[in-house]
Amino acid sequence: MKLWKGRFSKEVSDITNDFNASIGTDARMIREDITGSIAHATMLADCGIITPEDRDAITDGLRAILAEVEDGRLPIDEKAEDVHTFVEGELTKRVGDAGKRLHTARSRNDQVALDVRLYLRGQTAALDALLKKLIGTLCDMGEAYADAVMAGYTHLQRAQPVSFGHYMLAYGEMLLRDRQRLADCVKRMNINPLGACALAGTTYPTDRFETARLLGMDGVSRNSLDAVSDRDFIIELSAALSIVMVHLSRFSEEIILWCSTEFGYIELDDAFATGSSIMPQKKNPDIPELVRGKAGRVFGDLTTILTVMKGLPLAYNKDMQEDKDCVFDAVDTVKACLTAFIPMLETMTVKTGRMRAGAAAGFINATDCADYLVGKGIPFRDAYAVTGALVARCIELGTTLEALPLDEYQKACDRFDEGVYTAVGLEKCLADRRSYGGPAKENVLAMAQALRGDNENTGA
Ligand code: ARG
Repeated sequence: MKLWKGRFSKEVSDITNDFNASIGTDARMIREDITGSIAHATMLADCGIITPEDRDAITDGLRAILAEVEDGRLPIDEKAEDVHTFVEGELTKRVGDAGKRLHTARSRNDQVALDVRLYLRGQTAALDALLKKLIGTLCDMGEAYADAVMAGYTHLQRAQPVSFGHYMLAYGEMLLRDRQRLADCVKRMNINPLGACALAGTTYPTDRFETARLLGMDGVSRNSLDAVSDRDFIIELSAALSIVMVHLSRFSEEIILWCSTEFGYIELDDAFATGSSIMPQKKNPDIPELVRGKAGRVFGDLTTILTVMKGLPLAYNKDMQEDKDCVFDAVDTVKACLTAFIPMLETMTVKTGRMRAGAAAGFINATDCADYLVGKGIPFRDAYAVTGALVARCIELGTTLEALPLDEYQKACDRFDEGVYTAVGLEKCLADRRSYGGPAKENVLAMAQALRGDNENTGA
């Protein structure tokens, strides 16, 4: 069935049909399409534009179609141009003229704009729930490893002591911002474009505020041209999802490094790792590698929608049909990544002994040694130089600051005494970093608690 016969004297070619069709992509919005149509029919009847009898026939017909599609009794016709055409055609087959009245005071332009908003609203909530779960896991890990000392890095060189718990909570903070961004996206996504019709509203006495209310939307788009042309909400969501992927990809990179024999900080559970077809010894971190790779795909989805939209005049243009594949792909990809990432993280073994050994061998207490001298009245710059020379001496002797004999210390600066060994002890170096946001155990525990609270109070 075509919704636009009449003016045409020929059947449209199969090539045009196939090229034009979007049913393969938009069929997944059938629930939203039907929900929107039920709200539209309800409003039309309440405004006296259709009769209550027609409304009931439409509503019952649409509900039956949805139920049958969802339980597999009614296959979606792949030959239909799009989901809107399929639903209207099926409805008209069932309820006759009432079905033909459904599209009064509506166009597919406002209809599709509504469907995508409703569909992405649901998807955003599902993504948000996954992010919330992941943050909860990171809070658990933050608490469990609040005093598991490890080297923090800059330039991927061992730098200063942190704890594994502190590290996990750093990712938790990023993902919390991601949840806040999703919640912010929903504010502008959950606005009703329906009733803008093709581009210029309608002469029928419609009530767009009623449809918004029926659909649980937070407002009504103010300008009909903007209502059918705006895809900012897709761009915004794709951007927010790209940032999620930046975070997951950085985290994945660390997990990949930490699984290597060279680091040995963690081991993935056998159920969440893979083997090699040729090298029997291999245990590969495929999940984080794929997550890192799929980040590229989501960034591509963002680039697609930005590029589709950048040159379009108002109002609807068929180019805009290209808005869905990319954002659906972004949503599916991020969902799949989170679904694999969470249990992988929950089941991995954390090798705190290896982390401590890595921390002990990395002179990450050198700043604390310099700070110790500052405590003895030496200006920081001089203390820094003395400590640098001591590190060089340790490397020469194949030892560490913890084990360097006191006479070596005193040769470098006569202010050193036995107290230096306490000062450069890794546990003390960690415990003393009590500045707000720093890795001292009590800070990390408080951070985990605060993050849990924010995680409870955020939502998209
Ligand atoms: N399949 C179309 C889309 O996704 C629906 C809107 C069609 N509108 C039109 N004027 N042809 O954009």
